[in-house]
Amino acid sequence: MQYADYLRSVPKVELHCHFEGTVRAATFADLARRHDITLPTNEVAKLYDYETIYEFLAIFGMVSTTLIDREDFARCAYESLEDGVKLGNLRYREMFFNPTLHTRRGVPMATVIDGLVDGIRAAENDLGVRCRLIADVYRQDPPAMARQMVEEVLEHRRDELIGLGMDGAEAPDPPEKFVEAYQLARAGGLRLTSHASEDAPPVNITTCLDVLGCERIDHGYHIMSDPAVIARCRDQGIYFTCCPTSTAVVYGWPDLTTHPIKDMVAAGLAVMLNSDDPTMFHTDIGREYVELCTALDYGPATVRGLVLNGVDATWLDESDKAAMRTDFTDVLNRLDAELASSSG
Ligand code: ADE
Ligand code: ZN
Repeated sequence: MQYADYLRSVPKVELHCHFEGTVRAATFADLARRHDITLPTNEVAKLYDYETIYEFLAIFGMVSTTLIDREDFARCAYESLEDGVKLGNLRYREMFFNPTLHTRRGVPMATVIDGLVDGIRAAENDLGVRCRLIADVYRQDPPAMARQMVEEVLEHRRDELIGLGMDGAEAPDPPEKFVEAYQLARAGGLRLTSHASEDAPPVNITTCLDVLGCERIDHGYHIMSDPAVIARCRDQGIYFTCCPTSTAVVYGWPDLTTHPIKDMVAAGLAVMLNSDDPTMFHTDIGREYVELCTALDYGPATVRGLVLNGVDATWLDESDKAAMRTDFTDVLNRLDAELASSSG
C-alpha cells in the first residue's frame, strides 16, 4: 500500500468545512444556468481561480447566489458529503454554512436549513456518513444582522443544527463585534466556535475563548507569536481546526514544510485537519492529509493523533464519541498492519 493511499483511507472527521465552499464547479455552473445567472466565465475550470481572501470571498458570495430552492441546498449538501466519502473516507462532519448570504437575497431561512437537512439525511442513508450543521456569522455583516440571524436559526432549529461559528475576512472585523450574537446562541443551547488568528494576532483567540465563550478555534495559526496563549490553549486542551491548502493559497504559506501547523503540532496544541472550502481550493479532505503529512514527514502515529483529535473535538455526546474512537482505532490498526506488511 502506498502511503498516499493509506492517508486517503484513514477514517476522518471534519470540523472546518464551509458548505458554500464545497459546491462542485460543474454544479455551480449548472445551477447558474438553471436560474439564469450569468457567471464571469463559461469555462468551468476557471470558475474557482483567485489569489486573495477578498477575491475568494467574492466568488464564495457568487456561488451562494445560485442556491435558491430547497432542492439546490439538498443537492449540494449531498454532493459535498459524497465527495468527502469518496476522496477521503469521511465519516462525520460538522459543516459551516452562512445563513445571511442566503437570507439577504430573500431565500427563507427554512429553505436553507431544510434543504441542507434533506441532503444530509439522504447522504447518511446512502453513504453512511453523518453530518451536523454550524451556522456562521459573516464578519462583514453588522452586529444586528448577526443577532437576527441567530434568532432565526433558533426559530428554525432542527436536530442537525448544533452550533454557531464565524467566518469572513478577519483583519477588518474583530470578534468582540459579535458578542451579542454569541450570547444569544449560547442561551439557545448552541455550541460555539470561531475562525480566529487566521489573519490577525493571537488576541483574537483570547477574545473568542474569554468573551465569546468559544470551545474550539478554527485556524489559529498566528498563535505561534504568543507563548502565553500557546501555553494556555495547550493546558486547556483547546482544539484547533486547521486547513493546510486554503491558507497556503490565500495567506502566504505556500510551502507546507514551513506552514505554522507544523509548529502548532510541535508545541503540543491539539490540531486536527480539514479541507475548509475544498472545491473552491481545488482540494479534498483526502488530499489535505496527503499533502500535509507527506510534506511534514508525519508517520502513522502522528496521523493517528490528528485523526483522533478530530473525534475528540466533535460535539457529539460522550458515548457516541467513544464508539467512534473505538471504530476508528480498529480501522487504523488494520490499515497500519497493511502498510507495514506492504513496506516490509
Ligand atoms: N469563508 C469560507 N472560508 C473561509 C476562510 N477560510 N476564512 C474566512 N472566511 C471563510
Ligand atoms: Zn474556514
